[in-house]
Amino acid sequence: MQLDTAPELPQALGPQALLLPRFAAADADELVAAVRRLSAVSPFRHLVTPGGFAMSVGLTNCGALGWTTDRRGYRYAGIDPETGQPWPAMPTVFLRLAQTAARAAGYDRFEPDACLVNRYLPGARLSLHQDRNERDFTQPIVSVSLGMRATFLFGGLQRAVKPAKIPLQHGDVLVWGGSDRLRYHGIMPLKDEPHPTLGGQRINLTLRKAG
Ligand code: SIN
Ligand code: FE2
Repeated sequence: MQLDTAPELPQALGPQALLLPRFAAADADELVAAVRRLSAVSPFRHLVTPGGFAMSVGLTNCGALGWTTDRRGYRYAGIDPETGQPWPAMPTVFLRLAQTAARAAGYDRFEPDACLVNRYLPGARLSLHQDRNERDFTQPIVSVSLGMRATFLFGGLQRAVKPAKIPLQHGDVLVWGGSDRLRYHGIMPLKDEPHPTLGGQRINLTLRKAG
């Protein structure tokens, strides 16, 4: 078994996709505290997709824009439809971490204005999809894993391409952009293996330049 603290080198998952193992480990407590604060204002919810299915992943947002969906479709919005208020501000620690990670992967001018916060309980999954509701595909995606382990599926530019299975653990950061920006990805159903500090949940932060 690998320890959360084991040092590991960055791993290329594609020409412009990089796994930065444990890159966020030192900031994890601060990140989790910020998630607690923002989810007290804009709570986690299980949205219903245009296809009529309730997502197993609970989600909320922070930043100027937040990703949301309902029967009418997927979109970014400046107002949380559940509270009628703007999404909570992006915590400084999110912005700093995302920009440092993006820089480490070769993206020098990442200006995220949206952070989707996903919460997975055992059994929750995210089916293969592309992140394509953003305006500017030259800006990368930065994705931070906290809590329970998960298996990330990283596919191709077509849905039919068989995805690679990438194990993710607490503190891992993924950055993908450029020619990898529109690759299909998802998360396999989470196993029930509680994490020492976060317990039976996985939190994922996905930072993007949406507007
Ligand atoms: C996402 O694609 O929105 C989240 C991926 C993850 O939970 O790691
Ligand atoms: Fe995604």
